[in-house]
Amino acid sequence: MSLDQRRLLPARRIATLTAPVVTAALAAAAVLAITSTGVDEPDGPPSGAATGGVIAATEIQSVAYQTAVAQAKTKKPKVTVIGTGGTIAGVATSRSSFTNYRAGQIPIDRMVAQLQPEIGEVAEVSTVQFGNKGSGGYTIAEFHALTLAVEQALQTSDAVVVTSGTDTMEEFAYWLDLTVQSRKPVVMTGAMRPWAAGTVDGPQVIGADGPANLYNSIVLAASQSTYCYGTVLMLNDEFHTARDVTKSNTTRMDTFQTRELGVLGWIDGSEIKVGRAPSRVADCDQKNRWLTPFRLSDVKVESLPRVEVVYNYQQAGGEAITAFADAGVKGIVTAGTGAGGISSAQSAARSGAIAKGVFFVSTSRVGSGSISGGSSTAPIFDGDDLLPQKARLLLMLSLAAAPGDAVKVRQLVESLGNPEWNTAPPGNPQN
Ligand code: SIN
Repeated sequence: MSLDQRRLLPARRIATLTAPVVTAALAAAAVLAITSTGVDEPDGPPSGAATGGVIAATEIQSVAYQTAVAQAKTKKPKVTVIGTGGTIAGVATSRSSFTNYRAGQIPIDRMVAQLQPEIGEVAEVSTVQFGNKGSGGYTIAEFHALTLAVEQALQTSDAVVVTSGTDTMEEFAYWLDLTVQSRKPVVMTGAMRPWAAGTVDGPQVIGADGPANLYNSIVLAASQSTYCYGTVLMLNDEFHTARDVTKSNTTRMDTFQTRELGVLGWIDGSEIKVGRAPSRVADCDQKNRWLTPFRLSDVKVESLPRVEVVYNYQQAGGEAITAFADAGVKGIVTAGTGAGGISSAQSAARSGAIAKGVFFVSTSRVGSGSISGGSSTAPIFDGDDLLPQKARLLLMLSLAAAPGDAVKVRQLVESLGNPEWNTAPPGNPQN
């Protein structure tokens, strides 16, 4: 399906492509709906335990998903690990130094080699050294190149693991989630403690989490359990959706949290537990609906516009917005207070910037919960509960897909960015 065709879809339909979650109970309900006889049963107590309607485990009703998972059990999957650096590739001053280290030092092939022979029993692993530096040092041009590197690896591999620093890992993950044109698993991982002490070949840091995170990420990717999930983020034995996960602590190993919605699943020993799935899994058998419209092989790096984030606080001035607009920035995400509020000075500056052609997305600095700061008439789009740093990436990609077109940019931002289950009867797009 072309981007133009996609744009014609009602917003709520596109929204279901990336609606964040289906709980196990919802998934079970979907299976029951598909397998039921079509005879309405009245509400009320079930006639017997066997017909109670609650099942312990369910399956994702997709031929493509089930084929991928089944094939992973019959042959050793190929997994490419793409290294970009971060603390996981860090070298500490001593084995007991968790915070005094240099990130982005150890090549990815050396780290994978240290997981042998065990990881070789799980998957045929190859490596690509994309870069080796802190996550915050990557540019949008490098993000663009990373998407193409992941897509290239997926042409011959069954899944990809990308390692990065944790500081902006959620941005790496959401970018890949929005752009990678493949249903195969993509898993992001990293570490909160450096890998080695002294030198790149030095002894392992006491309690280093990198080896286990990398091992579990390869296990998860190889299993195909997240086929059609888009990009997921795996650390501390837990995996999360790229859209919803965020770093919540500067130092703790359980730093990644999906506030309100919780983890997708976890790995205990050799068992992968999958508790829920993003709703885009529902389109797994219709590849062209499943894919997002952001095909970067067709998008020149130079056409990705500058988009910035402006933070609100008590009596915030409007100068930052004005300066960004004057610098040629095409989009600004406001990280507002509460449900998206900005100061009166920022509001005046926003009106001035809109007159110069700048588009806005309204989000909240709170970290969770919907906002109510959008406008149906001005180019101020509703970011819902998307975090500001992720809304920025979505606005950038949307502006590149439909430069200057407020109607289409709004549709892309508010549908792909604000997923929601349609709980109305089939055929009725309204909740
Ligand atoms: C980084 O983000 O590159 C440094 C911090 C980390 O990896 O945890």
